[in-house]
Amino acid sequence: MVKICCIGAGYVGGPTMAVIALKCPEIEVAVVDISAPRINAWNSDHLPIYEPGLDDVVKKCRGKNLFFSTDVEKHVAEANIVFVSVNTPTKTQGLGAGKAADLTYWESAARMIADVSKSDKIVVEKSTVPVKTAEAIERILTHNRKGINFTILSNPEFLAEGTAIKDLFNPDRVLIGGRETPDGQKAILALRDVYAHWVPVERILCTNLWSAELSKLAANAFLAQRISSVNAMSALCEATGADVSQVSHSIGTDSRIGPKFLNASVGFGGSCFQKDILNLVYICECNGLPEVANYWKQVIKVNDYQKTRFVNRVVSSMFNTVSGKKIAILGFAFKKDTGDTRETPAIDVCKGLLGDKAKLSVYDPQVSEDQIMRDLAMKKFDWDHPAHLQPLSPTTNKQQVSVVWDVQEAVTDAHGICILTEWDEFKNLDYQKVYDNMQKPAFVFDGRNVVDVKKLREIGFIVYSIGKPLDSWLKDMPAVA
Ligand code: NAD
Ligand code: UDX
Repeated sequence: MVKICCIGAGYVGGPTMAVIALKCPEIEVAVVDISAPRINAWNSDHLPIYEPGLDDVVKKCRGKNLFFSTDVEKHVAEANIVFVSVNTPTKTQGLGAGKAADLTYWESAARMIADVSKSDKIVVEKSTVPVKTAEAIERILTHNRKGINFTILSNPEFLAEGTAIKDLFNPDRVLIGGRETPDGQKAILALRDVYAHWVPVERILCTNLWSAELSKLAANAFLAQRISSVNAMSALCEATGADVSQVSHSIGTDSRIGPKFLNASVGFGGSCFQKDILNLVYICECNGLPEVANYWKQVIKVNDYQKTRFVNRVVSSMFNTVSGKKIAILGFAFKKDTGDTRETPAIDVCKGLLGDKAKLSVYDPQVSEDQIMRDLAMKKFDWDHPAHLQPLSPTTNKQQVSVVWDVQEAVTDAHGICILTEWDEFKNLDYQKVYDNMQKPAFVFDGRNVVDVKKLREIGFIVYSIGKPLDSWLKDMPAVA
């Protein structure tokens, strides 16, 4: 009987293993984590992450062939296949700080696997890691445990948050990289058999280890690059009177370009894009490829520019100051259908507005007050961040930020509204009521292109929507950079 253990019960480990358990009833799947609160939540009615469809999958398998546990060592020792899906954040200190991946968690997981193993194992890199990590992991495993055969595979995850279950049920592809040795090839087939329970075999791609590791970084870099490309166009649209939605549609109908991932926005967020591109940049630099590194660095620079541009647009439109003015922040998560706020553009926009002494009233249907306060006080690595986006002290945040659970409360008496997440409910708000309750002139700054600009202007709002022809009010304001 195949036994799977996954180290790391996070956004990837939890949903991925739940789907494997659902699709492979004869396989026992244990998801383990050092965080007891996280495991307790997985074993409760309130799962630690919000993901459409996830509750259903977990309910169907939990206690049958899906188990969540803090007994990491026991489950690792018993498994034939060990997935490692721990976090791999950007280093904040030391060599490569602000760019390189911090593999502390991965290394400690690998050392633990070596310590507790009594039988041969396939060890699968599920986390996103720098190219050649498998070589380092192999060294840790084999140097610390003689006589046991560890075979390393790279099986990067391509799910996106908010659509994780849909993506896992019907992936564009599953990628498995392994050594070009008999053991490596045998391990690839064993893992392929797991996915083949529900993924057509032609969609299971098998490559060498380094191609699989690099493909993950490359995929995220290409995706993020599309967003920075369309966001760069959005600035030009605003300057020229073109409409970025029309430009996206026009270029997206070219089958070589395709229509997806061309929505201009206040900037991309999430735990992956920035981290993985920085990691890619660092690898390029380490390999003596500064031109390639600079090329990818630009994707992040444009993303930072887009967030700064948005803040500047808000401040300059409102008579060049937001000091003491109430601004409603609608949406704090990095995208809709998730409560995840890691690297959300809302953090940078809120910090920018707080830097100009605004009073913020934040509403997000899935993000708690604690999380928002923590995010705004948190010091993150300050790679290439403009001075006005530097972290503020927690005390300042408490005085300037309130978090509410009702949109109308957020907007009442506000001078302006910033829409920072594309939650569906923001499309269909009663904007007449919103307008009536706001200070005048009433501004809407739509960072996600969700509102009907024409309708809102008819109500009386001054509307800014990314990449759309500017309101005559905004045209008269000083240019923003
Ligand atoms: P996460 O922070 O949500 O989860 C990681 C978990 O690993 C945490 O719960 C942590 O407590 C646990 N952990 C860390 N060290 C451990 C150890 N030694 N033993 C046991 N548990 C340990 O992270 P995530 O979002 O699930 O991402 C995990 C990896 O997958 C990262 O490398 C990420 O880049 C990659 N990835 C993430 C996504 C995504 O959408 N979030 C998508 C694809 C790939
Ligand atoms: C991403 C990758 O899509 C996924 O394959 C990988 O496994 C993890 O990283 P995720 O970050 O969860 O997934 O969400 P994604 O849908 O890619 O969105 C990332 C950010 O880009 C969000 O802030 C989103 O709002 C933004 N975005 C996306 C845009 O601004 N415009 C778009 O057209 C698409």
